Amino acid sequence: MPHPPYLRLGVNIDHVATLRNARGGGVPDPVRAALLAIAAGADGITAHLREDRRHIRDEDMARLKREIKKPLNFEMAATDDMVAIALDKRPHASCLVPEKRSERTTEGGLDVFSGHDHLKVVTAELGKAGVRVSLFIEPSLEAVQASRSIGARVIEFHTGAWCDALTHNENARAEHELARIKAAAALASAQGLECHAGHGLDFVTAKIAAGIPEIVELNIGHFLIGEAVFIGLTAAIAKMRAAMNEGRALAAGSES
Ligand code: PXP
Repeated sequence: MPHPPYLRLGVNIDHVATLRNARGGGVPDPVRAALLAIAAGADGITAHLREDRRHIRDEDMARLKREIKKPLNFEMAATDDMVAIALDKRPHASCLVPEKRSERTTEGGLDVFSGHDHLKVVTAELGKAGVRVSLFIEPSLEAVQASRSIGARVIEFHTGAWCDALTHNENARAEHELARIKAAAALASAQGLECHAGHGLDFVTAKIAAGIPEIVELNIGHFLIGEAVFIGLTAAIAKMRAAMNEGRALAAGSES
């Protein structure tokens, strides 16, 4: 891969809804945040409609679909209810994620082994309706192979373990996790799968991830919304875009 392709930034606006729901009113409005994120350079918007509706709600998804002009990536569990909503709303993409009621955030990748047959049915059903399906998976070679067998064309690597290791200054574990992501991305790309990545990314880790040439999209939420408190959403997205561009440029330089 001599010239890494453009790296898209998907902005996850879930936590604008978390803040709104803390007071039970209408502000801050996640759709307003989505429109601002797009104006600031986001290539798409991601929103996770959880079973317990703890942040994004059904009417947010409907408004996002109506009001934003860039691709909408609908994160969802592979349940009948969510598939019905996706088939009704027809987002550009659905990212299938595991969901546990008790978790604070999506803790790991999908179980693409025991869930293989069910995920295959859901992937085919959404794909037939024109929704691009991605599977949120652990960065392992086995998970990549299983995703291919499920029929996914796109996968998103869970970067949480890597980011967590860096946060705790566990450098050996961080290096190990990054090596896993790189190896999984190389295999996936060789098998014709489009690679995305996300979870826990910040300016530093997004720049490093941008240096992995097979990855074409990063989905980033919590850090950007938190940073927006201090410097504003527009500035946070511009700074993220710059970090990603720098990481990409370094990757391109080391390839040539
Ligand atoms: N990608 C997926 C599939 C996710 O589930 C999440 C978290 O909702 C993200 C990306 C974004 O993670 P974060 O909010 O930590 O940036």
